[in-house]
Amino acid sequence: MTDFTFVTYCDLPDLDPDDRLAADALRERGFVVSPAVWDNPDVAWARAGICVIRSTWDYNLRHVAFLDWAERVAKATRLYNPIELVRWNIHKQYLQELAGRGIPVVPTHWLERGTTVNLREILAQTGWSDAVAKPAVGLATHGVKRIDAGPASQAHVDRLLLEYDVLVQPFLSSVVSYGERALVFIDGTYSHAVRKKAFQALAPAGLEDEAPVEATAAEIEVATAAVQALPQPPLYARIDIVPDEKGDPLVIELELVEPSLFLSMHPRAATRFADALARLTEPAAR
Ligand SMILES: Nc1ncnc2c1ncn2[C@@H]1O[C@H](COP(=O)(O)OP(=O)(O)O)[C@@H](O)[C@H]1O
Ligand SMILES: [Mg+2]
Repeated sequence: MTDFTFVTYCDLPDLDPDDRLAADALRERGFVVSPAVWDNPDVAWARAGICVIRSTWDYNLRHVAFLDWAERVAKATRLYNPIELVRWNIHKQYLQELAGRGIPVVPTHWLERGTTVNLREILAQTGWSDAVAKPAVGLATHGVKRIDAGPASQAHVDRLLLEYDVLVQPFLSSVVSYGERALVFIDGTYSHAVRKKAFQALAPAGLEDEAPVEATAAEIEVATAAVQALPQPPLYARIDIVPDEKGDPLVIELELVEPSLFLSMHPRAATRFADALARLTEPAAR
C-alpha cells in the first residue's frame, strides 16, 4: 500500500531531484512513496494514498484534461493542494482576486481569448511601451514574451489569443537587475527563498542557476499577506515577487499547483516539507 504518490509528468517519471529529497525524507519516516505520471491511464488513483501534485509541467498545454484528472483524483483519494486551490490557481485571473484583497500585484491589462485587439493602442493607453504578454494558463515562461508596438508582438498576441486569455504587463526591469524572488511557504509558514534568472526556462530545480537568498522583511510581509488571502490554507505555495520601480515588492505569480519548491537550497526545507506531509497522515488531518 502506498502512503504518498508524488505526481509528475511523462518527461520526468522519476521526479525532480528536489522532490526525490522529500520522498526520501518521508521514506526515512517509514512511509511508502511512489511517483506517478498524471496522465498515465494505468495508475489506480484510488489506491495511490495521499496524492501530492509536484512536477506536472505539461498541464498548461492540456489544462482542461488536467483539471478533469484533478477533479477525479480528488474524489478518489486525497489530493494536495486541495482541488479548490488547484481550480483557483490554474488561471492567472487569481492575480485580480489577490489585488482585490489588497495584495500588491504587477499591473495587468487583461485580454479575452478569441477577441482581436490592437496592441499598439493598448500600449499607448496603458503607457507601457516596453511590455510583456503571457497566457493566462501558463508555466515556465511558455508563451511569455517581451513585446512592443511592432508587428511581431501583435502576431504573438494574436496567436496567444486563439487559445488563451492573455495578460499584458509593463516590463519590470528588476527581473534582470535585482532578480525575481521565489518565496516558498510550507503549511502556511514562510520557509525559504531563491533568486531566479529572468525568463528562466523549464528545468528541474537547481539546473537553471537559481541561488538561495534571504528574502527581505517587506517581501516576506507581502508573500505572507498573499498566502493569508487565499480561499483556503495551502499545503505548499510559492510566491514569486519582483520589485517595482520604487523597490516595493509586487506579486508576479502565486503558484499552488506544480511549483518547484527548491528544497535542496535550504538545509531544513526537505525536512519541513516531509514533516508537513507526515502530519497529513495523522487522524486529526483527515
Ligand atoms: N511583467 C514582467 N516584467 C518582466 N519580466 C517578466 C514579466 N512577466 C514575466 N516576466 C518574466 O517571465 C518569466 C515567466 O513569467 P511568469 O509570470 O512567472 O509566468 P510563468 O512562470 O507561469 O510562465 C518571469 O519569471 C520573468 O522572468
Ligand atoms: Mg513564473
